This record gives sequence, structure tokens and C-alpha cells, in this order.
Amino acid sequence: MSVNALIADPRLEGRALKRIVYDAAEIARRVSELGAEITAAYPDGELLVLGLLKGSFIFLSDLVRQINRPLHVDFLVASSYGESMVSSGNVRLVYDPETELDGKHILLVEDIVDTGRTLNRLMELLQARNPRSLEICALLHKHIAEELKYDTKFIGYDVPHEFLVGYGLDHAESFRHLPYIASLQ
Ligand code: IMP
Ligand code: MG
Repeated sequence: MSVNALIADPRLEGRALKRIVYDAAEIARRVSELGAEITAAYPDGELLVLGLLKGSFIFLSDLVRQINRPLHVDFLVASSYGESMVSSGNVRLVYDPETELDGKHILLVEDIVDTGRTLNRLMELLQARNPRSLEICALLHKHIAEELKYDTKFIGYDVPHEFLVGYGLDHAESFRHLPYIASLQ
């Protein structure tokens, strides 16, 4: 896509992009690989894919269609950033999954791991419910997550430390519906 095409994108509310980091075709390619990896990693047992809202909603919907085995889907809602571009560390659970976790393989799906504070809090809470296994799948990982106490088993892309939007990721609730992942100017 040319720079002019970016400026003309009516979804951007007049904001400028620095660059498109992953376009729709590249994301589809990687999500399909992740789906195959996840399928192979769970040869048996019940699999519950738990999407962390709102950021994971597009990634999760594409990902589950690339997982070729039985599974169930539920969601968690945590709130940490508000309108800021900086993590506050205040993780608040707004919606707790109603599905029983005991004895199931739980795959927690996250859009992006930044400081890891959100995941630390959620992993503690989910581990206490006796799952058969508990793993994280993150589309993007900034690898500055020194605070994250848990491994991220499935990672789409290792990304540089810049603020990204699109494909579910927002800035102040805007830009989630961009079909590509971009960095804001
Ligand atoms: P953490 O607790 O610092 O790891 O923050 C994780 C959450 O912050 C993610 O689920 C996102 O909602 C949000 N976040 C972190 N980095 C970005 C970014 O570059 N763009 C948009 N949202 C982000
Ligand atoms: Mg967010």
C-alpha cells in the first residue's frame, strides 16, 4: 500500500501511520501456521480457548478456524490501559469465564504482551482453577516483558517496542478494525 493510500484510509480518523508492520496476507499466513502448531500440541483432552477481550477478538476468531480439533471458546475481560499508551499495572477483571476450567487444556489468547502485568494476574487466577494445562498464545510479543513470570508458548511475531494498532489492537478504542497491523505516527 502506498503512503498516499494510507493517508486516504478513512478508518484512520485523519491520523498518520508510521508504517504497516504486517499486512492482511502476512497475518493470515502466520495465523494458519500457529493453528497447525496448536493442533499438533494438543493430541488429546478437552481444549478451551480463552480469548482476552477486547484486543484478541479478531485474532481469536481467525485462529480457532485454523485449529483442526474439537475445542470450546470463552472470553475474559480485563481492563488495564484506559486511554493511555502506557500500562498502568492496574488489572481489573470485568468478566470472568463461566465455563468450568477444571481438567481442561486452557489456551489463553492475547493480542500483545507488553509488560506482562495483565498476564501475570490472569495466569494466577486461572491456575487456581485446576486446569489440566495452561498456556499462552500471543499474536505479538514485545519481549520487554521482564515482569512476566510465565512462558508464552505460542507467539505470532516478536515486535519492536512501538505502539501498534489494528487487527484487534486499539488506541483509545479506535483502529481495532484495521485489517493490517501498523504503528502510529
Ligand atoms: P501488559 O499488561 O503491559 O502486558 O499490557 C498488555 C495489554 O496492553 C494488551 O493486551 C493490549 O491491550 C495493551 N497493549 C500493549 N501494547 C500495545 C500496543 O502496542 N498497542 C495496543 N495495545 C497495546
Ligand atoms: Mg487495549
